[in-house]
Amino acid sequence: MTEKAQQPESKNRHKTVEQAEQEGKYIRKVRSFVKREGRLTKGQARALELHWDTMGLNHSDGMIDPAALFANDRPVVLEIGFGMGKSLVEMAKNAPELNFIGIEVHRPGVGACISLAEEEGVTNLKVYEHDAIEILADCIPDGVLTTVQLFFPDPWHKKKHHKRRIVQPEFVESIRRKLKVGGVFHMATDWENYAECMLEDMSSAPGYENLSETSDYVPRPDSRPLTKFENRGQRLGHGVWDLQFKRIS
Ligand SMILES: C[S@@+](CC[C@H](N)C(=O)[O-])C[C@H]1O[C@@H](n2cnc3c(N)ncnc32)[C@H](O)[C@@H]1O
Repeated sequence: MTEKAQQPESKNRHKTVEQAEQEGKYIRKVRSFVKREGRLTKGQARALELHWDTMGLNHSDGMIDPAALFANDRPVVLEIGFGMGKSLVEMAKNAPELNFIGIEVHRPGVGACISLAEEEGVTNLKVYEHDAIEILADCIPDGVLTTVQLFFPDPWHKKKHHKRRIVQPEFVESIRRKLKVGGVFHMATDWENYAECMLEDMSSAPGYENLSETSDYVPRPDSRPLTKFENRGQRLGHGVWDLQFKRIS
């Protein structure tokens, strides 16, 4: 029998795990991302090689002590899923009185972020290339963060994929534990249904207070630069929803 003939007669046999995952057919573990095999540009590869030692953080190093890490005790802002890092670097540059930690799974994005930070002379920023869920559980101590930012998380449009959205009651609770009392969880999305789900999950989560005067959304604060995704959304006439919730207990 030839090798070909031995293959199972399934119409899905040529699918990769990633394709099957995207279609919701095969899920090893419910994750909020699908690892893309993007190639690194020369600049990104060089930035990772030259500056990982000063700017990179490793999941395998376990719990961090932010004050020791930055050699000062300035408030710490954590950004989850920073994409290419453009707005994160801009925020870090504009706020030298704060320390920033970014988490992103997409390696070219991490390379681009480090490269830009280096170019801009930003020294108050460190980044992980890893799943934020695991970093929160294994590396970030409770009660140390002043702000958590989640800007334009993957919306997972189809209903059958909503379980892959990163904002879920369990995630919301893990963010609450990592914030200081008085710290703020700031989310933004250009997908109305996701905004509504975020509002529902956040409003019913214990230990948070909505900072919106109308008990729903807040205007974009000046601290959050317009991102590529938002610019595109605005051109298409889409809305953007910002949510800010304070940890109260
Ligand atoms: C739609 S993009 C938005 C990027 C950026 N925040 C912006 O506004 O331009 C969402 C990003 O979140 C990242 N991401 C999704 N789930 C993640 C996770 N569990 N941990 C770290 N990054 C994640 C993706 O790789 C992707 O770059």
